[in-house]
Amino acid sequence: MTEPAVVHLARRRDTTRLGADIAHALEPGDLVLLSGDLGAGKTFLARAIARARGVPEDIAIASPTFTLVQEYETPRGTLLHVDLYRLRDEADRARTVNDVRRLGLDERRAEGAILLVEWGEGLESELGGAASLSVSMKLDADGRSATLTGERRFGPSG
Ligand SMILES: Nc1ncnc2c1ncn2[C@@H]1O[C@H](COP(=O)(O)OP(=O)(O)OP(=O)(O)O)[C@@H](O)[C@H]1O
Ligand SMILES: [Mg+2]
Repeated sequence: MTEPAVVHLARRRDTTRLGADIAHALEPGDLVLLSGDLGAGKTFLARAIARARGVPEDIAIASPTFTLVQEYETPRGTLLHVDLYRLRDEADRARTVNDVRRLGLDERRAEGAILLVEWGEGLESELGGAASLSVSMKLDADGRSATLTGERRFGPSG
């Protein structure tokens, strides 16, 4: 594990740049967990990663809030953008686990797809095991930031 790295995201373009840095370091089968409150910038960052992996501008990158999973074929392999918010039931973990398992994302990952997952914390087993990178996004009085913890170096310093 790398030491957590904090990146300040004062402007959207900082997040776009972080997305490009992460995209550059991604390898087949990687799992990226994007955490943080509603509106913290998870989807914005996922979109930046997807664009930098080669999803062309004429293909819209919608939030997977309602579809749960959005799939993109890129020149560098399959990318799955996932939002598990609607499946999370804090009162019924067994149900959440079942619902997530049914999506078969662990298998897709084993086949080499890269997973970008919003609201996936605590569901790593159903997502094929430990995250390659966790990005914790925050919006508070100090502004926006992302804290990166990876199994190897991602982002601006690596
Ligand atoms: N520096 C920045 N980085 C990311 N987003 C920013 C930044 N500045 C402003 N924003 C805006 O903040 C919003 C972030 O929304 P986004 O949908 O990415 O949040 P989210 O974390 O995915 O929320 P949810 O949990 O509802 O899915 C966007 O409207 C984006 O344009
Ligand atoms: Mg989102």
